[in-house]
Amino acid sequence: MRIGRPNSAANKTRVVVLTADSVFEQSARTTFGASAQIDLRVVSGTLAAVDEKLDVTGATVVVIDLDAGDAELQALQRLMVRAGWPPVVVVTQAFDENVARTLLQMRVADFLVKPVSPVELVRACARVAKGPAGSEATEAQIYTFLPAVGGAGVTTLAVQTAMLLLNSGQRVRSSTCLVDLDFQHGAVADYLDLEPRLDLGEIEGRPERLDRQLLEVMLSHHSSGLAVIAAPNRPAEMRSFDPDMVTRLLDLVSTNFDYVVFDMPRTWFSWTDSVLLGSNKLFVVSETTVPGLRHAKQLVAAIKERMGDGPKPQVIVNRFQQRMFSSGLRRADLEQTLGDSFAAAIPNHYNLVREAIDRGVPLDEVKPGNKITQQLKKLVLPQAAAKVAPQPAPLLKKLKFSLAR
Ligand SMILES: Nc1ncnc2c1ncn2[C@@H]1O[C@H](COP(=O)(O)OP(=O)(O)OP(=O)(O)O)[C@@H](O)[C@H]1O
Ligand SMILES: [Mg+2]
Repeated sequence: MRIGRPNSAANKTRVVVLTADSVFEQSARTTFGASAQIDLRVVSGTLAAVDEKLDVTGATVVVIDLDAGDAELQALQRLMVRAGWPPVVVVTQAFDENVARTLLQMRVADFLVKPVSPVELVRACARVAKGPAGSEATEAQIYTFLPAVGGAGVTTLAVQTAMLLLNSGQRVRSSTCLVDLDFQHGAVADYLDLEPRLDLGEIEGRPERLDRQLLEVMLSHHSSGLAVIAAPNRPAEMRSFDPDMVTRLLDLVSTNFDYVVFDMPRTWFSWTDSVLLGSNKLFVVSETTVPGLRHAKQLVAAIKERMGDGPKPQVIVNRFQQRMFSSGLRRADLEQTLGDSFAAAIPNHYNLVREAIDRGVPLDEVKPGNKITQQLKKLVLPQAAAKVAPQPAPLLKKLKFSLAR
């Protein structure tokens, strides 16, 4: 990772946390500790007690849990004078206007008031850790599709969305990568009639080997110009994947493409939070059934709980059929059940989808201007057009991917 000043040892992000609060210490350990890319050092005690002994050399960011009191503020003042870099994030027990002013004058990079959620802490650290250089210019817009139930249409909609994004540029094609994270039962390569080239065995255990060059080898290219990352199916293999490998993959694709679309598996893995937190748009795909909607609602609630103020999950109800006089679910039912999280109903058009899948082509090639693509366009393209709006810096996303586990 290239966060802030190069950290010679192992290209890692070093986070130093000083706290005398065991609850906060535990939360910091869970937030930062799970990633092999983060070198977390927790110092127990108050700043006044540790004072000059606090070693921040090589740190990317320092988090100081500050107890109230003048002695603490004076110790912080000394630290700030001593260490022009790294940036310091202060966490306080309660908001106090005078303390806030003093912190501002000391030029701490940010300060948070307890209770601090993991997402808040990661965000604050990522923002301040950008460092003075902030050199990279592009960052992908990330669209993630999650299944509420099996067979809901995640792969179909992810493929179509990737195609729409690819062609969303005014004059030139936007570089777009579709990543099949359903390593065990992925179907993206089949749906596009491509040979999957991601060799997980090659990078497992040594995720640092995965660089731009190796990524290039592991990409499959569709004739439309869409880049695809998919691994060959190994249906009988029971294995879990190194979270660091997945994180590395996410970091790489997000800095090398304009748009990235993720096809997610149903199982929640240790790296799932990282993907969700790094996404700009999260779509939960459900079929048009009562159990499907119920699962979608539960999943939305679970994501909201885990992500805090991270990206908001939106539900796409797939295979929807509006019938005047039938007893099936109507649009009003979907809106009522899902409330705010209802994003769109995609029409049921089995013959069209089946033909596209069988021929390994996008829906528009079978039937230009079909209703499924039309609906998706309404949902996805306004956001693509809004891409000009200021985006978080690439390093923020990189740190998010690496930290949020
Ligand atoms: N809008 C639609 N209208 C009709 N059929 C659809 C539609 N979307 C998907 N299908 C069909 O539903 C089936 C499942 O689709 P798909 O493989 O995209 O779902 P999935 O959620 O990725 O499934 P899995 O859980 O196996 O990963 C396929 O047979 C596909 O043809
Ligand atoms: Mg699928």
